[in-house]
Amino acid sequence: MPKLLHLSCSPRPDSESSAGARIFIDGFRQVHPDWDIDIMDLWRERMPEFAGPILEAKYARMNGQGFDDQRAGFAEAESMALRLSLADRVLISTPMWNFGIPYKLKQFVDIIVQPGLTFRFNPSQGYIPLLKDRPTLVIIASGSDFSTGMNRGRIDMATPYLREILRFIGINDVRFVAIGPTTGPRQPIEAARGRTSKRLVAMAASF
Ligand SMILES: Cc1cc2nc3c(=O)[nH]c(=O)nc-3n(C[C@H](O)[C@H](O)[C@H](O)COP(=O)(O)O)c2cc1C
Repeated sequence: MPKLLHLSCSPRPDSESSAGARIFIDGFRQVHPDWDIDIMDLWRERMPEFAGPILEAKYARMNGQGFDDQRAGFAEAESMALRLSLADRVLISTPMWNFGIPYKLKQFVDIIVQPGLTFRFNPSQGYIPLLKDRPTLVIIASGSDFSTGMNRGRIDMATPYLREILRFIGINDVRFVAIGPTTGPRQPIEAARGRTSKRLVAMAASF
């Protein structure tokens, strides 16, 4: 059964990025009723701290050494990376936090971006991605409005960061939908919600 993996990255019950993801998934299910939708809620998922054996495993790999007690740590990274690599489509819904991504999403990235898992290094060719490309949608909710420039001095480092790290592991077919402003006066918030939900419904039909 083909699979859509949803990385859900907001801990808020009334999250705007999660609401956007629900609109998208509802539309997607109508077009793909037979697909498996695997939801990975990064605030509920058991993710290892990136220290100890899992960190040592990365250094062992980078230095071309074998494993001894790092093997169990690497196996945890492997099972998370596998969940991503087996997905035919990927949806990431995330808040913008302090110009970037929430630390749970960064923790997920640190776990799965490992040599031999999602990339490899070759001295003559440099870094080589190991995942196959696949359609990916990133929904980012932010207090500021990054589509009309009403960001009042805050910048968006989440979009370029996610674009680069996904490209690094092989995922280039990435579309971004920004939901914002999500804080401040009601009218612009509602306008942003309306604008993005229309876009998400349209995208779900052809994703
Ligand atoms: C810790 C924290 C940091 C934030 N940093 C930013 C920021 O740098 N830029 C911005 O536009 N909004 C920022 N916000 C506002 C959130 O991006 C906004 O509330 C968004 O809707 C959160 O996504 P969610 O509704 O899916 O949880 C921040 C909110 C929190 C809680």
